[in-house]
Amino acid sequence: MAKFDNNFVDELRMRLSIVDIVGRRVPLVKKGQNYWGCCPFHNEKTPSFSVAEEKGFYHCFGCGAHGDIISFVMNTEHLEYPAAIRELADMAGMKMPEYKPKSPERVRLEDSYFEIMERATKEYQKLLFEPAGRDALNYVRGRGFTDEMIKKYRIGYAPKNNLISSKFVDIKQTNLLATGLVRRGEYGMYDFFRHKLMFPIFNAHGKVIAFSGRSLDGSEPKYINTTDTELFHKRQTIFGFNFARDEIYKKNRSIVVEGQIDAIQMQMHGFGETVAPLGTALTEDHIAILCKSNRNITFCFDGDNAGQKAAARAASIVLPFVRDNSDVRFAFVTGGKDPDEVLKTGGVAAMHKIIDDATPLIDFLWNWVNQNFLVSTPGGRAQAEKFLDTELKKITDKKLQYEIEQEYKKREFQQWRSWKKSDAPKIKLPDTDLVTKNTLAYIVNNFPDIASQYADFLSSLNISFDETAPDLGWDDKAAEKFIVSLKLQRYRATLEQELKTKMQGMINGENYTNEELSDIKKKIAEINEKLEKLLYLE
Ligand code: UTP
Ligand code: MN
Repeated sequence: MAKFDNNFVDELRMRLSIVDIVGRRVPLVKKGQNYWGCCPFHNEKTPSFSVAEEKGFYHCFGCGAHGDIISFVMNTEHLEYPAAIRELADMAGMKMPEYKPKSPERVRLEDSYFEIMERATKEYQKLLFEPAGRDALNYVRGRGFTDEMIKKYRIGYAPKNNLISSKFVDIKQTNLLATGLVRRGEYGMYDFFRHKLMFPIFNAHGKVIAFSGRSLDGSEPKYINTTDTELFHKRQTIFGFNFARDEIYKKNRSIVVEGQIDAIQMQMHGFGETVAPLGTALTEDHIAILCKSNRNITFCFDGDNAGQKAAARAASIVLPFVRDNSDVRFAFVTGGKDPDEVLKTGGVAAMHKIIDDATPLIDFLWNWVNQNFLVSTPGGRAQAEKFLDTELKKITDKKLQYEIEQEYKKREFQQWRSWKKSDAPKIKLPDTDLVTKNTLAYIVNNFPDIASQYADFLSSLNISFDETAPDLGWDDKAAEKFIVSLKLQRYRATLEQELKTKMQGMINGENYTNEELSDIKKKIAEINEKLEKLLYLE
């Protein structure tokens, strides 16, 4: 039997859920602690085959079959051990190891890296409270960090001049280089982090494995992070998890935000279950880490277009992890640019509202599809359905997949076409130019929520919203602004027409009072004022 490194096999067991693996072959239903299904190893009609997710084992009370993910794949697919491992590694997205078991030297080396990181953390922490770190300290305090928080998150300051490369001379250069703290340049070794506010990045056990340094003088990039090292794998590390782990278990959910300061501020304001990926898009590994305790995740994204896109990506990554009892939601930040700002300006209550209003995964996906495909046309609907098919296939629980599909079948794609037949009162309007038509078709097809809010107005315009429109890349604010300003302009045009007719009438001897005329003029002035505000102020 080929031997694989124990770490590798453990990692496999950690990343893959036995419920996913078994669930691909055997429909499972959760009853109590465990999942149940009909045993694939003997013939039966009533389920006596149980799967214990936490323990990672299956057991059949009928025939006694018993094992873990590896033996399950070996026995159901008739594979040898190495082939089973290969298949599982593939599913887990892990490269097959050329792995040898960790040698004692390897272990010693890693320990020495940890020691270097620990020592660097202490140096940075110390410097923050020395004169060199005064600006950094003022900055971090200004961002609402108390000394207690600074201590807990071990925030520090990396000075302008070299610190590690000049002070850690007792340490072998190759080891220093391996931690990512220093680099070798033309003129010798230099520190990677200089003049930065330093946030240590901890592993799940609270050991420092990397740093994220924030620029203090407005220079770009805003954050630099340790590049991947033997200790730190960015795609597998989620910031704040070491602090959040217990809370994720207790609260039975996790919250994922975009920035590390957001994660810290959330944790300090009663959302201890919050974590953040590190300057990368979310990965499967991040989700796998969170899903160890439970599969309830609230993602918290920017309220803009980029946030929507990031959310769609997250949805796609999280789908394979979803169970029939999972609660996955998407929250979008409003009233501030990120959770840190919301907490500052609106307080905990405002943040609670955002989290509580989060959209469930299946509604989010549904809205996404309606907004991003031209579902008013058969082609667009076909595209939308294909997209949903591909996404929903990622759900391992086939029963759940089926039920969501049924749910979507019940909801119909929005039919903008019917608007044209709407019997909303028609205002007599000047002809609509092509640019306006295109813009409105774009808005209707991309922001159905806003469009339906102004449905009466839009339906009075006699425009075919089925036309494909150029992508303007707007956000919903811009879209709404456009509709409102158009509506105002149209209203102004009718008033101006009315004024003209009446003035003409007066000349022709008709009986209009000055009040009637100045009333209209006043209305026009009001509209102008509104338009001005709308178009020139934020
Ligand atoms: P943001 O640009 O939203 O920054 O990036 P932020 O978290 O609000 O930062 P502050 O509040 O201005 O200090 C979100 C996250 O993306 C990563 C960081 O982890 C950041 O927290 N990021 C951002 C980088 O890694 N590099 C960058 O240059 C910018
Ligand atoms: Mn921020």
